[in-house]
Amino acid sequence: MIKKIGILTGGGDCCGLNQTIRGAVYRAKDFNYQLFGIHDGWKGLLEGSISPLNLIDVEELVDKAGTFLGSSRTNPYKIEDGVKKVLKTIKNYSLDAIIAVGGEDTLGVANKLFKEENLNLVGAPKTMDNDLSGTDYTFGFDSSVTRAVEAMRALEDTGRSHHRVMVLEVMGRHAGWVALFTGIACGADWILIPEYKTDIDEMCKQLQRVYARKKYALVITSEGVDLGTSEKKEELDQFGHMILRERGVGSQLNKLICEKTGLEVRHAVIGHMQRGGIPTVFDRILGLRSGVTAVNLIHEEKYGYMAGLQGNEVIGVPLEEAVSKLKVVDRKWWELAQVFFK
Ligand code: F6P
Repeated sequence: MIKKIGILTGGGDCCGLNQTIRGAVYRAKDFNYQLFGIHDGWKGLLEGSISPLNLIDVEELVDKAGTFLGSSRTNPYKIEDGVKKVLKTIKNYSLDAIIAVGGEDTLGVANKLFKEENLNLVGAPKTMDNDLSGTDYTFGFDSSVTRAVEAMRALEDTGRSHHRVMVLEVMGRHAGWVALFTGIACGADWILIPEYKTDIDEMCKQLQRVYARKKYALVITSEGVDLGTSEKKEELDQFGHMILRERGVGSQLNKLICEKTGLEVRHAVIGHMQRGGIPTVFDRILGLRSGVTAVNLIHEEKYGYMAGLQGNEVIGVPLEEAVSKLKVVDRKWWELAQVFFK
């Protein structure tokens, strides 16, 4: 019988995490489960850093970004005796089930622990990158795009005033969802995403056409675009991911466009400002629903599942489906974006 549940948030923070924790705490009350907050992702299970969660801890989290439990990119499989330590903490605290809230890395570890250690694990998918399979959208994405749209809107004022090409670099790792949605929503004149190679000459011709018409142009690029002109050495994190912002694609583009068109160009990198701020209503509600559904999954003993959004429903989706392949921008979306490159 379930009595105690631990909840952790791992990977990059994003909007919707606090709401997920809140949803889980509130729903747990309905079944008389006691929820425990595990601090800083998997690190909290390695180090035994855990504390009980009650309504008082979460009731004011309905509109706060980030995760009050803390997060890290710690991978127990990359640490000596990591899995043993995780199991020991779970036993010490008599945790009957775990909710892992995270992206492909955190849920990848959850899926492995579920399959190999037979742990009672469920997941809730988050990421501003929106690159998880098995769910139509992840919370965090909508707020990040909203932040990037605000940034692009501000850059447009300068572009228009100084007759410049303004380039905005956004995060998103190897999926171009954030750049694509921001670009479409802002009326960007060119969008670069990692999934589809940009013909630089074609882009420059288009920018010149646009410039002749309105005397400024807007370009948005995803950090994961590889122009082949970076000289930086690429570092890897514990999950083997490159730190893409080091590539500086925005600055490379600035140089390229300037050289090829002779236009005045400026670039800006939005970076981590995109992960915080006030969560959008969409992310708040999706977060709350994900937390509630994660507890429901435990109640139904549907371990190895996560709370995925499919259509309008948040339902149990196998973790395996979520982590087996990255959800990248498909041709249909890319073709829609191109309708507006005129
Ligand atoms: O995965 C979310 C994300 O924001 C990516 O878009 C970005 O590449 C990465 O995290 C940045 O990670 P960190 O916060 O560790 O610098």
